[in-house]
Amino acid sequence: GLPEYVKIVEVGPRDGLQNEKVIVPTDIKIEFINQLSQTGLSVIEVTSFVSSRWVPQMADHSEVMRGIHQYPGVRYPVLTPNLQGFHRAVAAGATEISVFGAASESFSKKNINCSIEESMGKFEEVVKSAKHMNIPVRGYVSCALGCPYEGSITPQKVTEVSKRLYGMGCYEISLGDTIGVGTPGSMKRMLESVMKEIPSGALAVHCHDTYGQALANILMALQMGINVVDSAVSGLGGCPYAKGASGNVATEDLVYMLNGLGLNTGVNLYKVMEAGDFICKAVNKTTNSKVAQASFNA
Ligand code: HMG
Ligand code: MG
Repeated sequence: GLPEYVKIVEVGPRDGLQNEKVIVPTDIKIEFINQLSQTGLSVIEVTSFVSSRWVPQMADHSEVMRGIHQYPGVRYPVLTPNLQGFHRAVAAGATEISVFGAASESFSKKNINCSIEESMGKFEEVVKSAKHMNIPVRGYVSCALGCPYEGSITPQKVTEVSKRLYGMGCYEISLGDTIGVGTPGSMKRMLESVMKEIPSGALAVHCHDTYGQALANILMALQMGINVVDSAVSGLGGCPYAKGASGNVATEDLVYMLNGLGLNTGVNLYKVMEAGDFICKAVNKTTNSKVAQASFNA
């Protein structure tokens, strides 16, 4: 059956803004995150401590991390690919981090410039240091339902990489449909495989909506016992190293669906739409959220 409570991980400030052509001013990012903090969201991914030569959109990571108001009851994880990023994140006040691996060799190379095996070595170092500081680490697995360079990816490969991350101490594994090619069918087959090795309570899904399947894929995951879902306000998002991939499932649309299912999220839909409206105006684009479009046209 469906879970009673669904935890939403808001990735808009990171996944969303890393992919905007224009670099969003730091004070706008800070205001955006502060607004999101007042919507009832319990997890907001703030930024990523990656190379500014690779992702200039996130070059102000330390300023953003230092600048936000950290509201009680809200967690503010950041992405870190290696120890260098980890130390900078901690110095800027991060108390929770995510490492990001992939189930595709080619994507790993393009995204973080190393093989899957090499990445696991780097992540192990990060997890080890984080443990000493009582910093929880989440692990992403990109290309869980397909790769922009290799095409289909087997559930076995996704399971293998997820198991490595879980085994080294990641408390939660977020399974990323990086390019949004999955369907409820491939989601089901992938989760059936991963759930043989990792308890459903330690899994999350991260769906991009390129083919319009994200909500259907999420519903399938919920029915299989997953109760953590990543989304981005206004359907922002994409990965600079996954060309053609569109945004994440919109938080507004996800909350609307979960409300309709009678599932509790703690999130105020109207306030999320306001935060979405703020960031869309700031980056001069129209929302990708169907719910926001419908509501503002009404
Ligand atoms: P590299 O060039 O192989 O790194 O990049 P390196 O160790 O050889 O160092 C080269 C330079 O980068 C050096 O600077 C380092 O100091 C610097 P230089 O001496 O040349 O001036 N450097 C760093 N700077 C800041 N922060 C760091 C850091 N590490 C090294 N942490 C690296 C390797 C991983 C750094 C690079 O490939 C990179 O930054 N990649 C990030 C790619 C990225 O952010 N992708 C988007 C996020 S993943 C995603 O969106 C998918 C997800 O949403 C889930 C899904 O949808 O599937 C999570
Ligand atoms: Mg993503």
